[in-house]
Order: sequence, then C-alpha cells, then structure tokens
Amino acid sequence: MKIHIVSNKQEISRMAADLIQNLIKEKPDAILGLATGSTVIGTYEELICRYQKGSIDFSEVRTFNLDEYYGLESTHPQSYHMFIRTRLFDHINVRPENIHIPSGTPDNVEKYCRFYEQRIDNLGGIDLQLLGIGVNGHIGFNEPAGELQPDTHLVRLSEETIKANARFFDSEKEVPKQAITMGVQTIFKAKKVLLLATGKEKAPIIERLAVSGITTDIPASLLKLHPHVTIIVDKEAGSLLPDDMLSFSERGVRE
Ligand code: GLP
Repeated sequence: MKIHIVSNKQEISRMAADLIQNLIKEKPDAILGLATGSTVIGTYEELICRYQKGSIDFSEVRTFNLDEYYGLESTHPQSYHMFIRTRLFDHINVRPENIHIPSGTPDNVEKYCRFYEQRIDNLGGIDLQLLGIGVNGHIGFNEPAGELQPDTHLVRLSEETIKANARFFDSEKEVPKQAITMGVQTIFKAKKVLLLATGKEKAPIIERLAVSGITTDIPASLLKLHPHVTIIVDKEAGSLLPDDMLSFSERGVRE
C-alpha cells in the first residue's frame, strides 16, 4: 500500500480535486461517492472554485453519500445531509435528482438499506469513492469489529467515534449512537478509491494502516485488496510512517 505524502492540506485538496475533475472530463455522468468530515472540506472548496471558474460541469454527475446519522432529520444542522448541501451541493450545478444521501429516518431500515445499495448497482456503480478515515480506522461508519457488514446497514457507533465527533455537537450526549452507512463491500465495489487524511491526530492510525495486515480491527486496511486505491496524507498525518511506505508526491515533501 503506497501512501502519498504531501506538504499540506491545500495540496491534498488540489490533488483530490484534480482526480475528480479528470474523471468528470472523461465521463461527464460519473458517479461520485462522497464523504463528510473536516478532511474533505478543502476538496469541496477547491471543486466549488473550479466550478465557478467554469472548469468543471456537474450537470450530469451522479452522487452517493457514504453515511448519515440515524435519527437525525435531513434538516438537522449536524446531519450529513446538511453538511454536504452547505459545503458542496448548494454551490455547484449538480441536479437534485442525481443526489443520493442515506436517510437518517427511514421507515423500514432494512428495506431502505437494500434500496440504497440497489440504487448504486442499478446506476452502474461508483466510479470514484472519496474517503476520510476515523481515528480508529473506520471508513464511512464501518467501525472496527470482529466482523464487518458488506452492504449498506445500520451500525452502532463506537465510543471513540462518538467522542471524536462530539466536537460538532453541543455535547457528547447529543451525538447519535447509530448511523446508516455503506458497507465495506459497497465501498470496495467502487472502481477507484481516494482516501485522504490530515493532521497529527491521524498519524497513529495512518501508521497502523501502513504496517498492518488486512484486519477488521482497521476497516480501512481492507482497501489493501482493492486494485485502484490512492491514499494521500499531509506531512502531519504521515509523520509516523516508515520511510519504505512512502511515495513522495512530486509537489510534496516530508520534513
Ligand atoms: C466521520 C465520517 C467518516 C469520516 C470521519 C473522519 O466519522 N463518518 O466518513 O471519514 O468522520 O472525519 P474527519 O475528516 O472530520 O476527521
């Protein structure tokens, strides 16, 4: 597993936006798998900027979000619906009918999860899945566990994730305890995967990911089996990586 290390967040956002822009140029109706969280905000800002300059057209692009907190209405300020709308969709020309975000309040969870999964498959599958990583190695909300669920499902959040995400809520108590997330197989079915990590709090998990085998204790490690994965980290998130695991980007350095 090669990990590209670049000098800072801006550089990661530019590289991620380059990959997305090139994909849309090649395939104007590409299907993007989108993530939420602070890591991807810069990428979305870069995409908005390029859209405003006329370099990207999202009019045919289809999107599927990774996850949503269970129990939160789409209008809740901390819902991932709200995040992606205010951070990206409100500023680009993606068509509302082409947007898919898991509902946090489905009537029948199992039926809804099956529907979400089938919708991805019926449209031909995700071309590029953008991912962040949790401090415990989760992708989407696939938490470390003895067994991982392949498809979109309802998951109980780990204490670590609830703590890490409490910063977005008024208190830890308000963080939902469950979420609906794409499963590891849903993510794995994407033709290409792009995982980003920034900041020193991600350094230990990036090091574990780099040196570990494939284990459900680090859900992101399953990506080692995927044929087209790109991992880009900034120098803080990459600060604990062994040298032989690094691929220095042309534009980046580790100091
Ligand atoms: C949440 C999301 C993940 C995201 C992770 C990291 O738990 N479910 O998809 O990767 O947070 O978030 P951040 O980028 O804010 O560190």
